[in-house]
Amino acid sequence: MSDGRDLLLRYAGEFADVVIERAEGSWVRTTDGRRILDFTSGQMCATLGHSHPAILAAMQDAGSRMIHLYSGFIGTDVLALAKELMAVLPPALSRAMFLSTGGEANEAALRLAKLHTGGHEVLAFTGSWHGMTAGAASSTYSAGHRGYGPALAGSMVLPTPNAYRCPIRHCRDRCDLACLDVGFELADAQSTGAPAAVIAEPLLSVGGIVPLPPGYLAQLRRHCDARGMLLILDEAQTGLGRVGRMFAFERDGVVPDVLTLSKTLGGGLPLAATITSAEIEQDAFDKGFLHFTSHVSDPLPAAIGRAVLQTVVDERLAERAAALGERLRLGLEELRARHEPVGDVRGAGLMLGVELVQDRDSRVPDPVFGTAVTERCLELGLNVNIVKFPALGSVLRLAPPLTVSEPDLDLGLEILDRALSDAAASGGSRRLAARRA
Ligand SMILES: Cc1ncc(COP(=O)(O)O)c(C=O)c1O
Repeated sequence: MSDGRDLLLRYAGEFADVVIERAEGSWVRTTDGRRILDFTSGQMCATLGHSHPAILAAMQDAGSRMIHLYSGFIGTDVLALAKELMAVLPPALSRAMFLSTGGEANEAALRLAKLHTGGHEVLAFTGSWHGMTAGAASSTYSAGHRGYGPALAGSMVLPTPNAYRCPIRHCRDRCDLACLDVGFELADAQSTGAPAAVIAEPLLSVGGIVPLPPGYLAQLRRHCDARGMLLILDEAQTGLGRVGRMFAFERDGVVPDVLTLSKTLGGGLPLAATITSAEIEQDAFDKGFLHFTSHVSDPLPAAIGRAVLQTVVDERLAERAAALGERLRLGLEELRARHEPVGDVRGAGLMLGVELVQDRDSRVPDPVFGTAVTERCLELGLNVNIVKFPALGSVLRLAPPLTVSEPDLDLGLEILDRALSDAAASGGSRRLAARRA
């Protein structure tokens, strides 16, 4: 008999072959009693782990005071969250609005940039993911363009600066930023003279766990400034400690004109923020900026965001992500030494990628092997994603909660080790069977 999944609209291929009844800390439990270690932190949101006590307490407390308000009213938790975020951000980022999802926060950022600059041209990475609403989707090039009609006019790509797979076949294992300069030359050639913004993830996630090379952000900033474009950084996944710092942009000391936060800010509940300077906010306000949604400035999610931020600060989770990330990286490097298909290990903090290739010389991606590894991991009790859009490689994404225990981290590595061996063995016997047939 059907378990009811035939009643659901499938929004991203088939669902995983499990039904979950509980999620707690770094673990989820299935209806048939299996425990699965969650190295995706839900959909990269549950950085504190599932159902952290601080989030539960905030839900209880805030919910008993107010859940939702007329969008023109501002509640106390919204004011407090804005203040508390500003305390961990550079002074230039001093005006925030609170929304529900990452797509919405980027939509607001793009609308702000268009109104402020008067332009409409937006550049984004070939490996980007900024959301599924129309503006954000127009700047999402990793997937989802084909079949949905025209993107917004003025949408253009910048090559993803992946040193392992140089987009302009120019560098190998380093990036001299030529792809960035070439990207802008191409954009300049296409421009109708209406530049608005570049939107970028400081460490691309869906694009294959690609940290921006050293010096890239500073050069990107110069290109934006030269053209009067705003720099929007999307820290949906990297913000709030994940990469071993509070924000990924801190590594380079380059402050964006607009910062968007989502996923990690709500710790698993829908909360997002679009944050900019006083000058841009005032100019947009003077021009009649409009971005009204049913849940803008909702008080309950704001209270959750406060609890998440406070926990990240109080429990020094950014430092923890740096230390545990180093432990995980060393473990993955050790797997690379023993498993031929592991071509590259990269990332920052507790956001690491393992690139799987057919052979290390050609670096041809191996999505079939990658899928076999993730399926075997799930059977053995570990949830890891694979990023395998064509041209972006075949990359396992490891991002456990920042609260993960050391034994659970090591257990995840052990399972991955076994899954790599098992998938290679079954792939080998399949190849043998195919040869004999
Ligand atoms: C970097 C980044 N930005 C934005 C989004 C979109 O966020 P949401 O799905 O909450 O709209 C995602 C989602 O995966 C993302 O990874």
